[in-house]
Amino acid sequence: MPDQELLSTEPATGAVLWRHPIGDADTEVAIARASWAAWAARPLAVRIEALRRFANVVRQRADAFTDLLARETGKPLWEARTEVETVIAKVDISVTSYSERTGQRRIEAPMNTRLALRHKPHGVLAVLGPYNFPAHLPNGHIVPALLAGNAVVFKPSEKTPASGAFLVECFHAAGIPEGCIRLLIGGPDQGKALASHPDIDGLLFTGSANTGIALNRQFAARPEKILALEMGGNNPILVWNTPDLYSAAVLVVQSAFTTAGQRCTAARRLIVDEKLFEPLMAELNKLIGRLIIGEPHADPQPFMGPVIDNNTADMLTESFLTLSTMGGRPLRHMERPIENRPFLTPGMVDMTEAREKVDVELFGPILQVFRKTSFEEAIAEANDTRYGLSASLVSQDPRLYDQFWANIRAGIVNWNKPTNGASSAAPFGGVGWSGNHRPSAYYAADYCAYPVVSSESEQARAAMGVGLRDA
Ligand code: NAD
Ligand code: SIN
Repeated sequence: MPDQELLSTEPATGAVLWRHPIGDADTEVAIARASWAAWAARPLAVRIEALRRFANVVRQRADAFTDLLARETGKPLWEARTEVETVIAKVDISVTSYSERTGQRRIEAPMNTRLALRHKPHGVLAVLGPYNFPAHLPNGHIVPALLAGNAVVFKPSEKTPASGAFLVECFHAAGIPEGCIRLLIGGPDQGKALASHPDIDGLLFTGSANTGIALNRQFAARPEKILALEMGGNNPILVWNTPDLYSAAVLVVQSAFTTAGQRCTAARRLIVDEKLFEPLMAELNKLIGRLIIGEPHADPQPFMGPVIDNNTADMLTESFLTLSTMGGRPLRHMERPIENRPFLTPGMVDMTEAREKVDVELFGPILQVFRKTSFEEAIAEANDTRYGLSASLVSQDPRLYDQFWANIRAGIVNWNKPTNGASSAAPFGGVGWSGNHRPSAYYAADYCAYPVVSSESEQARAAMGVGLRDA
């Protein structure tokens, strides 16, 4: 790769998909800074109209966008299509959320005082995106940020820059001023330059805990800037007292292996009642054996594609071996069916008797299994993580769900549903190392504007009743 150019390759084939010169954070931030005030001054209705046009542009270009997302991430076409639909749906959700969470209010106060609550945009917001949802997740910050009147400088992941560029082109094609949504192409160096830029007013980040924690440290000395961190998870799924083990297996497979395990909400740990372990494993093995793993455009459609690149596949293969050297018992080996391509088959390791455990997010199709004899122990195991994004219980017993809900530590707590597939119409975020208490999705409006309260009266008529000497 030449020094000044970023290349994107298709994980499934290794073909070069796209190339683009590396951008410059100073230039993009300066353009955004010069543009945001005019955008913020436009009536909200004008910004809503512009974002609705953006949704229409994406709708018109949906097939091309789907194809690009599938090629660049390796995810199957059906899944790429749902990502495009989520991008479109985000606009209406954000309009509702803006008015509900950050709209104008009049607050009645004593003494004929009128309190007006309104919100103002921060100014220029930087957005850093991950590679697993290169359109939907940055878009989840960008749409509410623009709606609130901010300008945005967006740096997509260096692994999926073409999808990021496509998204930005759609905003521009919809007539959103080019200065208000800027594309910065590059990798971590450009990310660092953007995050540390003195002229941004905040950073909206979706990515790994390692990067997020580094950014959090950096922003500790800049309390005047808003920082929203959406990070990873080491998410548990519990299977306890459930008669339908086929359905349990489906929920586990969907949770752990959709998108080849490359979802922040993917289940990394299966915690199962010792009594159900053998029959559940039998169902899981049958189901996993039937999964189609293939390139995105294959027919019939695959369940999952490759992971993002060969380095990631190598790292995951090594992690699987490490779990075994720690005393884990492989239940299903992770295989690399095509040499030099990052396709991986789902792997499972029984870590119940392991000498040690690692609380890291293995961002791929690896599921660690823990057998437990009491539900209390199962919950304790589930909570034994620094992360806290999502958690699911598969059980027919509502009392167990009550107990689970009350005791589990996570921002998304599901019952008889997968750990992933979160709705954009609800808040999305976690505790611990999964975020910094600034949930996204429906609550993204909260970090895209700040509240301004005005105590107002039409006339400057005032009197002092106490503390004065006679005149
Ligand atoms: P990553 O942290 O490696 O990169 C994310 C972005 O940050 C990229 O644009 C990257 O170039 C940039 N970056 C990397 N190092 C940087 C630095 N030091 N300073 C500034 N910018 C830097 O994440 P990834 O590997 O692209 O994405 C996968 C991760 O994202 C997983 O951990 C996953 O759980 C997480 N994720 C979280 C959510 C969520 O909403 N909570 C959603 C999807 C993915
Ligand atoms: C993700 O953002 O990585 C996954 C979202 C989800 O599927 O819940």
